[in-house]
Amino acid sequence: MKLLSRDPRLICELAFRPLALVFWSILGAKALNNGLARTPTMGWLHWERFMCNLDCQEEPDACISEQLFMQMAELMVSDGWKDAGYEYLCIDDCWMAPERDSKGRLQADPQRFPNGIQHLANYVHSKGLKLGIYADVGNKTCAGFPGSFGYYDTDAQTFADWGVDLLKFDGCHCDSVTSLADGYKYMSLALNRTGRSIVYSCEWPLYLKPFHKPNYTDIQYYCNHWRNFDDVYDSWESIKNILAWTTTNQKEIVDVAGPGGWNDPDMLVIGNFGLSWDQQVTQMALWAIMAAPLLMSNDLRQISPQAKALLQNKDVIAVNQDPLGKQGYCFRKENNIEVWERPLSNLAWAVAVRNLQEIGGPRFYSIQVASLGHGIACHPGCIITQLLPEKVKLGFYEWTVTLKTRINPSGTVLLRLDHN
Ligand code: GLA
Repeated sequence: MKLLSRDPRLICELAFRPLALVFWSILGAKALNNGLARTPTMGWLHWERFMCNLDCQEEPDACISEQLFMQMAELMVSDGWKDAGYEYLCIDDCWMAPERDSKGRLQADPQRFPNGIQHLANYVHSKGLKLGIYADVGNKTCAGFPGSFGYYDTDAQTFADWGVDLLKFDGCHCDSVTSLADGYKYMSLALNRTGRSIVYSCEWPLYLKPFHKPNYTDIQYYCNHWRNFDDVYDSWESIKNILAWTTTNQKEIVDVAGPGGWNDPDMLVIGNFGLSWDQQVTQMALWAIMAAPLLMSNDLRQISPQAKALLQNKDVIAVNQDPLGKQGYCFRKENNIEVWERPLSNLAWAVAVRNLQEIGGPRFYSIQVASLGHGIACHPGCIITQLLPEKVKLGFYEWTVTLKTRINPSGTVLLRLDHN
């Protein structure tokens, strides 16, 4: 794990003592409520697809540069992403110059971002989008660029001055669990004090987990979303692991999610190389059920029409963005089938049926309609629409009947149940 085992813990704790006083006194006064992320954040984040590519000589189209983000911003508007709801264009690690400037402020790499972040933010805003940026609570970012430890106020103010709208705050290179927690809390308040609306995306529980159980009441109080589990990869193995972790831990994490604070199972990798069509359907369906931030990491310049249609599916996005803001959960697992459900506004429900069996062909699975949504989803009846893998209006179902689904191996059928 990325917390360093060497122990200058004392230094960190002493360094934070005066800060602790400040935020506990503020905390006593009022709860943090920045009014943001009332539904899960939607956008694009560079990490999974572009990682820390610094080589703009050899790979001008894939390196982390101003040009990459400007191209993505243009496409987010011209190709319907913005209209579908994807609003935040987010920079991850590796945007920085190796050193802070003479005033101690972070600065963008001058070769790769020749006009600086403020210019990029203006451009992104001119397209009607918002800009996200990345920093780290510790001494260095995970890729070794300057960390924010000791500079939380400076960095929060710098981001606000530049016009940044979201901060992903990573947890590498932090010397102790105490400084990790204090740093995440302090940065939340520092962002708030700038007066600019900045979505605060944390990785606090992920870095805390090896040491002790995360206190989700605390985390939800300070963060708009938080990563609980390992980085997503462009592989089915990775998606399966994230879903397995979520089902195992759902008792602790589902109830803390709601408007303003979400569990973040990491980026959507739909449109890349590693997932089959049915596996991409599974990621989209389950990220909708989980009320997860929808942050795509793909190349919008080269994406198949099929992946694009899946990512822009209005019905599925409506489930993800449902204003009731309740995260779904897995309520049945039998015979290599998982059934998940999520309560939606207007007494509607979303139901996902996953086929975990990776041998053989499509399987049939029958559900007693009366067993869905604590028995009330279809009482006395409901209209069922299959949303994925394709939209099919299945019609009216009475409470007493059985619904038969057909699910491809490693695929998912996503349903919506409405009362009228
Ligand atoms: C960590 C995070 C990733 C990404 C990288 C960047 O691994 O979990 O999401 O931000 O750092 O270095």
